[in-house]
Amino acid sequence: MSRNPDDPGTPRRGNSFDDVLRAHVSRRAVLQGSLGLAALSLFGAPFLTRAQTAPSGKLIGFNSVPISRADTIVVPAEYVWEVVNAWGDPIMPGAPDFKRDGSETAAEQAMQSGMFHDGMHYFPLPKGSDSSTRGLIAINYEYTDDNLLSPDGMENWTAEKVQKSKNAHGLGVVEVKFEDGKWRTVKDSQYGRRITADTPFLIKGPAEGHAWMKTAADPEGKTVHGTFQNCANGYTPWGTYLSCEENVTPYFVNDSGDIPRLQDRYGVPPTAKSWGFRWHEFDERFDAAKHPNEPNRFGWVVEFDPFDPKSKPVKHSAMGRMAHEGAMLSEAPDGRVVYYMGDDDFRSKFEHLYKFVSARPYVKGGGYAENSRILDEGTLYAARFNDDGTGEWIELTHGKNGLTAENGFTSQAEVVIDARTAADVAGATYMDRPEWIAVHPKTREVYVTLSNNTSRGKGAPLHRDQPLGADAANPRAPNVMGHIVRWREAGQNPTATRFEWDVFLQAGDPAHADKLKRSSTDLAWAQPDGLYCDPRGVLWIQTDSSAAGMVTEDWQQIGNNQMLAADPATGEIRRFLTGPIGCEVTAVQFTPDMRTMFINIQHPGEAPLPHPGRNDPKKPKAISTWPDGEAGGRPRSATLAIRRKDGGIIGS
Ligand code: FEO
Ligand code: CA
Repeated sequence: MSRNPDDPGTPRRGNSFDDVLRAHVSRRAVLQGSLGLAALSLFGAPFLTRAQTAPSGKLIGFNSVPISRADTIVVPAEYVWEVVNAWGDPIMPGAPDFKRDGSETAAEQAMQSGMFHDGMHYFPLPKGSDSSTRGLIAINYEYTDDNLLSPDGMENWTAEKVQKSKNAHGLGVVEVKFEDGKWRTVKDSQYGRRITADTPFLIKGPAEGHAWMKTAADPEGKTVHGTFQNCANGYTPWGTYLSCEENVTPYFVNDSGDIPRLQDRYGVPPTAKSWGFRWHEFDERFDAAKHPNEPNRFGWVVEFDPFDPKSKPVKHSAMGRMAHEGAMLSEAPDGRVVYYMGDDDFRSKFEHLYKFVSARPYVKGGGYAENSRILDEGTLYAARFNDDGTGEWIELTHGKNGLTAENGFTSQAEVVIDARTAADVAGATYMDRPEWIAVHPKTREVYVTLSNNTSRGKGAPLHRDQPLGADAANPRAPNVMGHIVRWREAGQNPTATRFEWDVFLQAGDPAHADKLKRSSTDLAWAQPDGLYCDPRGVLWIQTDSSAAGMVTEDWQQIGNNQMLAADPATGEIRRFLTGPIGCEVTAVQFTPDMRTMFINIQHPGEAPLPHPGRNDPKKPKAISTWPDGEAGGRPRSATLAIRRKDGGIIGS
């Protein structure tokens, strides 16, 4: 394949797909032969082999399910699934049951599960136990379809509808219990909690109190109201939940005709290009022309204690501001915590990959009280992937790597609030929408899904004029189907500043006529998003193709979104689950005994329209009736519990 003619020749980029594959294969051969000794001394070993991960028996024990276009969940025959909790279900004392026409008030919605389930974490109950039959699920409700949220949808737009939309966003704490062979939600749990787009948060770290964080409503720049667009997540070793604010700027509008540089770099749009949430019509802080700093108060990693319903959540500015997908923990040998974070801007597509290394080790055995400041101080890095399979973490610290006053940075607060520009200046690689990240529990290798980037080879990052073509870590231009990259830190230490990487898998249809859309495996799958490596070392991959994409020719042999299991040693993948029509499959959690898997089905019935793919409120069941069937009023996102019929270990 020749170089894309639209690519004018960007520096150190432009390798063709075949060249990249050839280079990759030959580099692997070198690493496994004598010439690899130098690399081995730095990195410890080549990427893991079968002998390292599965000394006996097969890692993955089920047979693939076929692709599906059905409006249901399909799992292997030896498995069963059940809905544990869906949008609108009551999760705290006083909450009403879901009304099938969506006629709850905004106040009632604030006591029920939010609308679009995304990242989550299972915390055993009692606290500190390893219970596999009772726990808290802390969960993100990423966004909403406001046409399904009330009986007449977005017609007759009112302050109450804006409030309900904001209350269906945010976070939740849901108590779940396994009784009589079934998982259920504890409706009146004392732990039940909702955090919405209006709940007060403290801002901590370098941006606390900075001028760019101050607004008319918060002249001190220390308290923000709300969280939304909470996508993937993380957790801490001290028992708290992390949630990551992703594509927040399309909820703001700026119709001034003169969008400031910082708003522009983060994608604050005029009304015509917003996602049409219309919050600004009744809540003026979403008018970024009137309140230019309000967008700076979103796009952070947030933390809260799921065991204390009264605890005040915090936004950790030291971890940088971006369209945070998730925050994946890897503990350093000295007890410092390391978080890997993707910046998945849905519209700019070209953004960077980051990690945060805490300045201090956490207090082992301590809880939130002892560790509440650990994430407020540390070093932020962005990744550079070199074409030779090596990489570097570039420190984003004021005064280093070009982050100086001459380049517009006068403090670390400005570096973290404008982390994207900092990473641009420092020379980080533009990745194809980095989404979830997983760390292998034994080898510490790190995997990232790169969902897709149809602009690669054709478009440019938000602040640049020239299109970017393929590079070694993002080898397809355009990248329609997505891929997974993995890396190993030097010395297998997550605080290292050098790493070695390779392309683990490429998604697509293995029989597609266009080789740029073919999978590197024999299964058809596209646009990986959710990712988790379980304690046995199985890499679980979840897909999120848009409903608009799934109705095109390219998806004929791929079907509905799905979940796969990969063996990191061999690259073998098997399809474990297919979802209902129009959904994405997201989040993977296991009970400690590994006999229950929880996942989320998000936005079943998404309309095949530009994002956010809203339904017709007059025909809420036109696309999907999942999970309630014809008896239900509208499709609902939900948490599933999946078990083996024989009660065995999931995946084995
Ligand atoms: Fe919310 Fe990048 O997915
Ligand atoms: Ca996602």
